[in-house]
Amino acid sequence: MKEVKIGILGFGTVGAGVVEGILKNGELMAQRSGILPIIGKIADLDIESDRGVEVDASLLTTDALSVINDSDIDVIVELVGGVTVAKEFVLRALRNGKPVVTANKALLAEAGRELFEASVKSGAGLYFEASVAGGIPVLRALRDGLVGNRIQCMYGILNGTCNYILTRMEREGLPFDEILADAQKLGYAETPPDLDIDGIDTAHKTVILASMAYGAPVPMSVVASTGIRGLSGEEIANADALGYRIKLLSIIKEGAGKIELSVEPALVPKTHMIALVNDSFNAVFVKGDIVGDTMYYGRGAGRLPTASAVIGDIMEAAVDRLHGVGSPVGITMMLQRDTLEYCAAEEIEKRCYIRLPQGDLAAAQDVLATQGIGIASVEESISVILTQPAREAAFVSAAAELGDAVRLRIEDVP
Ligand code: HSE
Repeated sequence: MKEVKIGILGFGTVGAGVVEGILKNGELMAQRSGILPIIGKIADLDIESDRGVEVDASLLTTDALSVINDSDIDVIVELVGGVTVAKEFVLRALRNGKPVVTANKALLAEAGRELFEASVKSGAGLYFEASVAGGIPVLRALRDGLVGNRIQCMYGILNGTCNYILTRMEREGLPFDEILADAQKLGYAETPPDLDIDGIDTAHKTVILASMAYGAPVPMSVVASTGIRGLSGEEIANADALGYRIKLLSIIKEGAGKIELSVEPALVPKTHMIALVNDSFNAVFVKGDIVGDTMYYGRGAGRLPTASAVIGDIMEAAVDRLHGVGSPVGITMMLQRDTLEYCAAEEIEKRCYIRLPQGDLAAAQDVLATQGIGIASVEESISVILTQPAREAAFVSAAAELGDAVRLRIEDVP
């Protein structure tokens, strides 16, 4: 029986989940792949705290470099997080010729090209399924089952913390901060949780998905992103009354050679499957030109769902190593082109929900008409106007005259 010795950098929530998963199902993985996964070393600055898993003390070290440089370690698993030290570790490991598995979406979104090129140069693979949508193998779907498709659009619910907060705000009407504290206790939220609630975490995952679908690392700067901070229960209740749910939505579309990307709380029809994705669950709806509509669903955050994706990547890295595969298809997919063309935020065409807290609906309709924005319906009882599609630039011009109006995108997901 062949073995793969794993060096884990970062023994936090996910690191402990990886150890738990391998202790539980390592034999099963060996039966399936012919390769037995073995935890070789674990590095963390804190090697005293109890993580709820049995680990021989001799495996623990505070010295991450000693793990990266250990010739007995076959695969490095980077779970340190952040973009500075983690980047150094990943680059060092790749240069040492060791394949790296990472769940670090921020690092891939900020420094993807450099890391992918380092992987190609060294011939050591970089595997990152766990970086998007936790336990859902959606990157595998894009690079494997859907590889023959042009991706027309993707809609994602990619942040477990935000989806958990929105679901409980809708169901229980609890205050935002109280639910966020629960999400932190459950191990869903980042530390600090601003990356989650301000939409940055979803934007990181959005650029990774788009890079895989369109063949070049997408810069964060092209994603217009807004989070759920400040979203009121009134909007959630109004959306419900109008037949919609509000989700923090990652929107990726391709048309006329340009890619449109955004992250924002959006009204989606209650009848669409994506509106039924609740709690910390994530989902990605993918429309391909050959396959048509597909959707992937599962737990997007938390110890074991993320560990499941990391373990899948460890086994893929081990198999690739065994067969001498230097650069896995995931990397080639990310580096097909030098650059892509993007739709500017103000060019994006969308429908909107506009609530006028002062209730002056007639004046608001005049303002919208002046900007060429058509009206789909006026809901007087809740002081809301639903518009026809128009460009973001027109909405921005109208907003200057609409005072304290609340505006949210409506996305009629196909
Ligand atoms: N904080 C992230 C979330 C963890 O809530 O989805 C998984 O990436």
